[in-house]
Amino acid sequence: MSATTKPQTKATSFDAEALRADFPALQQDIYDDTPLVYLDNAATSQTPTAVIDRLEHFHSRENSNVHRGVHRLSQDATDEYESARESIATFIDAPNPEQVIFTRGTTEGLNLISSTFGELVVDEGDEILLTEMEHHSNIVPWQMLAEQVGAEIRVLPVSDRGELEMDRLGEFLTDDTALVAVTHVSNTLGTINPVGDLIDSAHAQDVPVVLDGAQSAPHMPVDVQALDADFFVFSGHKMFGPTGIGILYGKREHLEAMPPYHGGGDMIDEVSFEKSTYDGLPHKFEAGTPHIAGVVGLGTAAEYMMDLNWDAVQAHEDDVLAYATEQVQAIDGLRIVGTAPEKTSVLSFVFEDIHPYDAGTFLDRLGIAVRTGHHCTQPLVERYGLPGTIRASFAAYNTREDADRLVEGLRCVKQMLGDS
Ligand code: ALA
Repeated sequence: MSATTKPQTKATSFDAEALRADFPALQQDIYDDTPLVYLDNAATSQTPTAVIDRLEHFHSRENSNVHRGVHRLSQDATDEYESARESIATFIDAPNPEQVIFTRGTTEGLNLISSTFGELVVDEGDEILLTEMEHHSNIVPWQMLAEQVGAEIRVLPVSDRGELEMDRLGEFLTDDTALVAVTHVSNTLGTINPVGDLIDSAHAQDVPVVLDGAQSAPHMPVDVQALDADFFVFSGHKMFGPTGIGILYGKREHLEAMPPYHGGGDMIDEVSFEKSTYDGLPHKFEAGTPHIAGVVGLGTAAEYMMDLNWDAVQAHEDDVLAYATEQVQAIDGLRIVGTAPEKTSVLSFVFEDIHPYDAGTFLDRLGIAVRTGHHCTQPLVERYGLPGTIRASFAAYNTREDADRLVEGLRCVKQMLGDS
């Protein structure tokens, strides 16, 4: 597919088994003859052959530096690097590829914004509004900024079933709010947040909104212009791309006003010992040699995703989540954490008598990969009074059969480790 078209409603249907065949890691047996069931996609998704082959081709035929060589390899690498930026711009409907900045991941994107834009808009006495379901990456950078400038962190609470308490927004979005940072989808609960309403309310008070898209970009078409967020950040390795590469989208007026994040080669216009001047977008924010192979692989991952029929993918993911939820909640002594009506791809739960870590370790021996613990959302897990949860997180290639294996595994866990 070209980098300039984004079909979201293809006539073809979606075949999860056929998609699965594209992912070599999913074909393996572990612990001798046990086929792997991979349900840790919210942490990192698996990589399709198209991306693996693209990385191999880059390293064997195109590897060289970008934006600085007159030789052929460097020009090819530069073309591929910038073409990947165009693919990502198409993937999120950014108005211009110059508004797509490559980072190491969501965490670096949020740190970049807090250290540059944050310092421009947040002053002493101001408030930064977060939510109780934020991931540590969308808490700690804002705390560091708040400490530095003398601002206050406010936290919009989450209900028992895992929804933002939007009816209390007025208490938290005040005349002192300088910035809102919120996750689009909760990595621990799977809740899809009403970010449109949040953004509208914040913008009505001229407050900019940073959207953490790490868990939404892999599961739904994202249109940053329709969302109207001031910033949207996400990671390559959760959307079938390589690790160590992420994306920051920002509104042009913000990106232009922001100072650079890191200084070094490739982000400058001219350098002297008296004064240096900076390049324009997007290079102002990409100092030093970037993760070129990662960018090229990410471009292929975005093209791969854009080739899918997203109406059908979403219907399939919803079906697998609903099926797994129904089966899992029927297990005696197990409770689901996060029961919002609007959810995607994440099923968190606890046993009343088995520690999540023990359950996760047991499941692993059965070939079932889940994540256990606080999922880098310690305040959220503490809000529910839990030591952690067991989290199964699904991708487009997961099926009802994977859910069956999970349920079978959980019944074994209950039988072997439960009190009765
Ligand atoms: N944010 C990642 C997760 O939820 C690391 O597992």
